[in-house]
This record gives sequence, structure tokens and C-alpha cells, in this order.
Amino acid sequence: MVDSSIPKFFEKNRKEKLEIVKNFSNLTETEIEIIKNSGGGISFEQADTMVENAIGVFSLPLGIATNFQVNQKDYLVPMVIEESSVIAAASKAAKIAKIQGGFSAKADESFCIGQIQVVDTDTKSSIPKIMQSSQEILDIANSKSQTLSKMGKGAKEITCKEIKTEVGPMLIVELLIDVGDAMGANVTNTMCEAIAPLIEKLTGGRVVLRILSNYSTRRMVRATAIFDKQGVGGEQVIDNIILAYQFAVNDEYRAVTHNKGTMNGIIAVANATGQDSRAIEAAANAFAAHSGRYGSLTKWSKDKNGNLIGNIELPLSVGIVGGIINVHPMAKICTKILGVTSAQELACIMASVGLAQNFSAIMALATEGIQKGHMKLHAKNIASAAGAKPEQIDKIVQKMVQENNISLNRAKELLDQT
Ligand code: MEV
Repeated sequence: MVDSSIPKFFEKNRKEKLEIVKNFSNLTETEIEIIKNSGGGISFEQADTMVENAIGVFSLPLGIATNFQVNQKDYLVPMVIEESSVIAAASKAAKIAKIQGGFSAKADESFCIGQIQVVDTDTKSSIPKIMQSSQEILDIANSKSQTLSKMGKGAKEITCKEIKTEVGPMLIVELLIDVGDAMGANVTNTMCEAIAPLIEKLTGGRVVLRILSNYSTRRMVRATAIFDKQGVGGEQVIDNIILAYQFAVNDEYRAVTHNKGTMNGIIAVANATGQDSRAIEAAANAFAAHSGRYGSLTKWSKDKNGNLIGNIELPLSVGIVGGIINVHPMAKICTKILGVTSAQELACIMASVGLAQNFSAIMALATEGIQKGHMKLHAKNIASAAGAKPEQIDKIVQKMVQENNISLNRAKELLDQT
């Protein structure tokens, strides 16, 4: 079995790191060349076809988190993020989780929810009419995707609800669509638009919006891991982590930051694999408030042996076919690095990375604080910005950290002295 625990990965040079990733994920020479030479992925010409008024492309760092084991399979996890410490923190958490078998995760099947807003209708009499015609509605919806229909997926169910608003009641018709391994926004919107005329005919009302809901509660993912007591650093640290968690549970101001740490991991993998990160964020934050009060996406407790148990649950709408993955060579390669074969597998990894990230953040906060680690990386960036060559960086960083004086001026002074 391939092993994601790669000793001292962070100390290796770029060539060595690429060689490891290449062997782990069976990347081709061409794919390695793309990582090395593409400047982050897409050409201007591609960008120009993706958005309006394009004037350039914008790249971010791509790193690899090691040590991940999810459902007994090892992964090297590509993460795209501008923030230092995040990738190191994920790798560290995954290393501790691996002591007790890594992460166990399960994702729901990928059902998208499409919404059709109907106004100027008598909701009570309209609902039975829609329900009686649900097969006809589903057939129209499914005629819009041969691909999904052929796979036995596609629109499966219609539900109706009434909402009361200050401008009167509205009928909301919801279409449940199994989108398989796609994110599914496009097909959902297409199906919603396709069925709208029939909904109007059946209800005698007027359809206003026809759009998917990003609150993807039919695409939930759950992950859990045991963080070994010794690995974490003993009982006191675990107790402090649980205190940190209780702070988040009982205070929205802390919960938002706590969840931000979790999302650092989830969004970094989302970026690497070309997901719609705004959809993921919006759904996660809505779910964090599903009890009526904004809270933590993770749960932390102790088992009978004093090990730390982490759980995460969130809606996660991701895809491995269609969308940007068709266009963006780096997203394609990152998905290959992960080696996932389904959207559910990707969701399981992303939830595990989120849990890992939250663990590392609250462990650091509950012990020495995050600034020490952060500052070291920050110092590295400063040294590099001051013009230090790779072989000069470590010495300058060490000195600035020692002096507790991390600044561009000091880095320049130290550089002049070397
Ligand atoms: C920083 O990006 C994330 C943290 O603030 C998360 C947290 O406070 O739990 C460290």
C-alpha cells in the first residue's frame, strides 16, 4: 500500500517533492512539466473564455499535505492557499490521527436541490396538482440530461412547500436531482428552467426564480478521527482543546473564527480541485447555524482512554467531472494527485482535512499559541522578499525569530551582513 507518511517531506527540495508526488500518484512527465512550468495553470486565452473583461491570470501557492489516511486509504492532499502554516498544520494533525487509524468518513449521495418560486397562485390547491403531475415534471427535467439519465441518475423527486412572506404566500417547488460525480449547478439550473412552464400551467401562477439551492443538505459529509493522547501531548492539552471547543460552541464570535480554521483546510482542497468555494462556504455557514444559533462545525470530546475524538459534519457540494476541472489543467492534476474516483470520496477527504485543520488550530491556540509557527513562516517570506537566496533564508529567519524582530528592514540588514 502507498504510504502518505513521508518523513521530512518539508525539508526536501522542489525536485524531490515532485518526484515523490509523481511516484505516489502516477503522474506523467507531462503533468510534472505542467506543474513546473504552467505558472499556476491557465493561459490568458483560457481565462478570457472563462470570465468577462479578463486582463490576466492570478496564481496562488500549491502545496501538498502529507500523512492523510481516510477510510484506510492514504492520500497526498493538494492544497491551494495563500496563508502560511495551514499545510504544515494539516499534515501534523493527519500524522497524529494516523496513529489510531486515520479518518473515517462517509458522504451522502450527491443530490442537488433545485428551487422554483411560484407566486400569484393558490398554494393549497396547487400542491396536489403538482404532486399528481410529478412524473411528467420529472420526465421533462430528465430530458435535459441524457448523461445522468443513462447512468440511472437525474431528477428523482418533487416536493412542495409554502412560505409566508410579507408580500403574501409563495409556493416553492423543489426538484431533487442525483447529479452523480458532478457538482451539478448547471444541470440543476437547466432542469429548473425546463420545468417552469409546466409548473406555471399546473398552478396558474407565475414562476419567478428557477435556481439550485446552495444549501446542499442532501450532500452531507461526516468525518471522525481519534487523536492519540500521547500524540496530542497528554491529558492537559486534550482538556484545553475541549475547553477551546466549548468556547466556540457557546460564543458566536469565537465560533466564526473556529470554523474559519476548519474552512482553511476545506477551501484549500476545494481550490486545488477546482470546486466552487463560495458555494461550499455559504452552505457550511448556513449549516453552522442550523440549530438556530451559529456554532461549531466540529465536535470534540474524549474517549474512555483519554484520547481526543473529533467529529465534523457539513454539507459539501463537490464534483470531479464537469465544471472547471475540464478547463483547468492544475485542477485536473490535483484531482489525479488525490486519486479520487468519486465526488463522495473527494467530500470525505475534504471533511477530514477540515477536521485536521481545526484540530491543529485549536491545539496550537490551546498550548503555545499560533504566532510562533506563523512568525517563522512569515519570516521566511520576509527574508525572501528582502532578496535572500534560498540558501541564505534559513540563517536570516533564525536570527530574526531569535531577536523577535521580523521585518523587511532587519532582513535587509542581515542580508547585507552575509
Ligand atoms: C487562522 O487562519 C485560523 C485560526 O484563527 C483558527 C482558529 O482560531 O481556530 C487559527
